[in-house]
Amino acid sequence: MRSHTLAVLPGDGVGPEVTRAALTVLDAAQERFGFSIERTEVPLGADHYLSTGELLPNDTVTALAHHDAILFGAIGSPRVAPGILERGIILALRGAMRQAINLRPVRLYPGVPTPISGLTPDRCDLVIVRENTEGAYVAQGSTVHRGTPAQVAVQESVNTWYAVERAVDFAYRLASVRRKRLTLCHKTNVLVEAGKLWTAVMESVGERYPDVETDYVHVDAMCMHLPVSPERFDVVVTDNLFGDIVTDLGAVLQGGLGVAASGNLNIDGTGTSMFEPIHGSAPDIAGRGWANPAGACLSLSLLLGHLGEGEAAAAVEAATAAVLAGMPAMAGKGMGASTSELGERIARAVTTGETDAGPVARLECSLMEQLATMLAG
Ligand code: NAI
Ligand code: MG
Repeated sequence: MRSHTLAVLPGDGVGPEVTRAALTVLDAAQERFGFSIERTEVPLGADHYLSTGELLPNDTVTALAHHDAILFGAIGSPRVAPGILERGIILALRGAMRQAINLRPVRLYPGVPTPISGLTPDRCDLVIVRENTEGAYVAQGSTVHRGTPAQVAVQESVNTWYAVERAVDFAYRLASVRRKRLTLCHKTNVLVEAGKLWTAVMESVGERYPDVETDYVHVDAMCMHLPVSPERFDVVVTDNLFGDIVTDLGAVLQGGLGVAASGNLNIDGTGTSMFEPIHGSAPDIAGRGWANPAGACLSLSLLLGHLGEGEAAAAVEAATAAVLAGMPAMAGKGMGASTSELGERIARAVTTGETDAGPVARLECSLMEQLATMLAG
């Protein structure tokens, strides 16, 4: 029997609620597709920090490095000052596990209400590849004359050929197994130094992928094109900060923060990849069963693709999409069922396979299968 090891980090707020739902779905996928996953729960987050003072201890990092994948819920609590847990755990983990790529699919599933009027699923199926280690998020900078009217804050953006090339090459590879279109999103007209490097990397790497068509869009223009004509994009590659921002807009297109999934990928075997819904701990709805588990379940689907369990990944995606299509609302009480009930519904659909040939199968191809093919190759 195929077997894998999984570290589970439920985190704070709605994190544990959506993660529990995703694990119910994982149970169903294992049972049906015949693989085993040994799970280790790691209690990082606000409670752990407040009781021990620990954010991300070194021995936890070592233990995580020995797992095949990490399933992450969300981190952040009103009981801890902003930034401590987010930087001390999430950003620290992305760095420690050398998760070079942040992968964010933007797919509108059939039947999911989108605030963009007239948008249809066939026009909204793209993937944003965000460089995940550098840019403005390297935590480099300084403040002088602190506390005086002359205070100066410098926050630097770091762009190395090495990291940009890894992200761009990954994006080209992904585009090659999809619709063969790659867009660079940047701000080359103002951030000219970083912009020149990104543009040169696009050209240089592009020589290896002659069948992928490329174009360029400024990040501000992206905020207009993405909601109005998402169909012009297949794979978009961008820097850490721009990627963080435009993917929230992407999540809106696909029905809201509760629906969007992501993967933080280590692509050189030096650490463990981590999969997480893009939303945070949502303290405003935590503890009520009002969180949509779809983002966590679709992240699980990406995780399964990453482990080479392509069939299971596609079944989880299809089941999640089918359950989403039957929900009256994407968040809160209006969902018509609690987080755990929705998890059970998705798990049941995975078990019976009744949704395998559903709306997702009728879309061009399962992204999760594409990823499984690409990551395995
Ligand atoms: P958030 O993503 O937690 O919530 C934003 C809005 O989306 C809220 O109205 C919330 O109720 C809603 N929402 C979030 N997840 C949902 C779900 N699964 N289903 C339905 N609705 C959902 O962002 P916010 O409020 O800015 O941050 C809360 C905490 O989470 C902060 O401490 C923040 O730093 C942290 N955070 C952590 C992230 C992570 O763990 N990767 C990512 C983003 C924020
Ligand atoms: Mg963000």
